[in-house]
Amino acid sequence: MSNDKNRVIIFDTTLRDGEQSPGATMTLEEKLQVAGLLDEMGVDVIEAGFPIASPGDFESVSEVAKLVKNASVAGLSRASEKDINAAAEAVRHCARPRIHTFISTSPVHMKYKLRKEPDEVLELIVSSVTHARGKVEDVEWSAEDATRTEHDFLCRCVEAAIKAGATTINIPDTVGYTVPEEFTALITMLRERVPGADEVIFSTHCHNDLGLAVANSLAGVKAGARQIECTINGLGERAGNAALEEVVMAMNVRRDVFPFTTGIDATMLTRASKLVSAATSFPVQYNKAIVGRNAFAHESGIHQDGMLKHTQTYEIMTPEAVGAGKTSLVMGKHSGRHAFARKLEELGYKLADNAFQDAFQRFKELADRKKHVYDEDIEALVDENIATATDARKVVALTVIAGTMGPQMATLTVDAGDGHQTVQATGNGPVDATFNAIKKAFPHDAKLALYQVHSVTHGTDAQAEVSVRLEDEKAGLSSTSKAADPDTLVASAKAYLAALNRLEAKRQRVRPEGGENISEEARRSGP
Ligand code: KIV
Ligand code: ZN
Repeated sequence: MSNDKNRVIIFDTTLRDGEQSPGATMTLEEKLQVAGLLDEMGVDVIEAGFPIASPGDFESVSEVAKLVKNASVAGLSRASEKDINAAAEAVRHCARPRIHTFISTSPVHMKYKLRKEPDEVLELIVSSVTHARGKVEDVEWSAEDATRTEHDFLCRCVEAAIKAGATTINIPDTVGYTVPEEFTALITMLRERVPGADEVIFSTHCHNDLGLAVANSLAGVKAGARQIECTINGLGERAGNAALEEVVMAMNVRRDVFPFTTGIDATMLTRASKLVSAATSFPVQYNKAIVGRNAFAHESGIHQDGMLKHTQTYEIMTPEAVGAGKTSLVMGKHSGRHAFARKLEELGYKLADNAFQDAFQRFKELADRKKHVYDEDIEALVDENIATATDARKVVALTVIAGTMGPQMATLTVDAGDGHQTVQATGNGPVDATFNAIKKAFPHDAKLALYQVHSVTHGTDAQAEVSVRLEDEKAGLSSTSKAADPDTLVASAKAYLAALNRLEAKRQRVRPEGGENISEEARRSGP
C-alpha cells in the first residue's frame, strides 16, 4: 500500500457488520461474490466475518481469505484466546491476514455488558493484543463504544494496545452518538496525548443512528485518522455504518476540502451496490446518495432544462463516475418539450413534427393523470396505434388448481380480438402453469427475464403488483409490464400478457426510414 500520508485505507465490513443487520444474511456463495468485487474495486481490507460466531462464519472468512488477491482479510474476535485462535486460523490462507480484536471501554458497557472493572479490561487488552500479535503481524484493536468512553481511560487503553503490538487503533462510534466536531476533537486528543500514537494508524468506525456516520468518518480523517471502516449501501447494525460509496465520493468530489486519496475504482460503486442489495435482499433507498435510483434523476422542468443546457447546473459528479450509466430525466407533469424530445431520442424514436406534437400532447395528458411516467409508458404512448391493435389480447378468466396434490393446472380464457379461446396447461407451480397456458394460447419465443411480485399494501388481502420482463434475444428487444390485482395469479397473467403485447408492438414499431430527426422546433422550445 502507498506510503502517501494522505492515503486513506478503506476497510469494508459489509460481510461482518453489514451482514449483522437483521435480515441481511448472505450465503457463502454470495459472500464470495461480494468479496471478489470488493477486492477488484480496490478495497484495502475486507472484514469477512466473525469466525468464532459459527462454523458458517468461520468457513466464509476462510474461503474469502483463499479467494482474495489484493486486499487484506480481517477476522473479528473478542478479547479471548479462543476467539483469536479461530480468527487466526480462518485468515491464515490470506497473503495479508489481519486479526481485529475488540473490547468495550465505556462505563455503561463495562458495568452492564462485560461486568468488569476498568483494570480488568486493561489487562484483557494487553493479553488479547499480545496473543493476536503472536499469530499475525497486522493486528487491529477496537475500543467498542469509544465515543462514550471517559477520555483518560480511553488514552490508557489505546496506549496499552499500542504497547502490546496493535498496528491499527479503531475508535468506533458504536451507537452512532457522536457529532463531527466532537469526533474530530476525540481523534486529535488521542493522537496528541497517547505515547506511540504516531506509530499506528487510527481508524474510524461510525454508526448511523443520527444519520452522521459519513460526516463523522470524514471528520475523523480530517483529524488524522487514515482508515475508514464502512459498508456498501451503509448496511450494518441498526441504522447501519458509514456508506463506502459516500465516503469515497465525498473525498473524490470535494478534494479541495478533503485532500485525501483511496484505492477505490469509483466506477464500480454502482455495481457493488446492486450486488450487495441483491445478495442481502435489502433494497436501496430510491434517494440514497451516489447509488440510489434517483441519485442522477431529474424531474422538475427547470432542472431538466438546466441539465440539458449544461449538466453541471444540477450535477456535482457524473453518473459515469460511479458507474451509474447515464443521467435520467424522469418524465412527469413538470417535464417540457425539450426534455420529452431528448427522452424520445434516448428511446430510439425519430418523430416528424406532427407526430412529435401529437405525442407530446398525449404525454402531458398522461402525466396529469399518472404520478410517474416510465419509459415504457412513453413507448406505449408513441406506439399507441400499434399497441391498441395488439392490446386486444386480454385475460378474460383464469382458474388455477394449486396445492400439495399437484400437478398445478391453469385454465385460461383469453380474448385475442377475434373471440374467446380457452386453454389448459400444467406447470411446476401455479405461476408456471399460468404462464404455460399463455404460451399455449399465444406461442412465442420470448424468454421470461424477470418476474417480481410486490404487495401494494399490507395484509393478506393486499393487491399484488406483478412486474414481468420478456426478452426476445433474436430481435434484440425486451419489454416490461406491470399489473395489479388482489389475486397474485391474475396479476401475473395480466402482466405477462401485457408484456407480450408490448413486445409485439415494439416489433411492429414503424420508424420513418431516414426520416427526420427529432423535431427542430421541439429542440428549440424549452419547457
Ligand atoms: O460498532 C462497533 O463497535 C463494532 C466493533 C466490533 C468494531 O462493530
Ligand atoms: Zn459496528
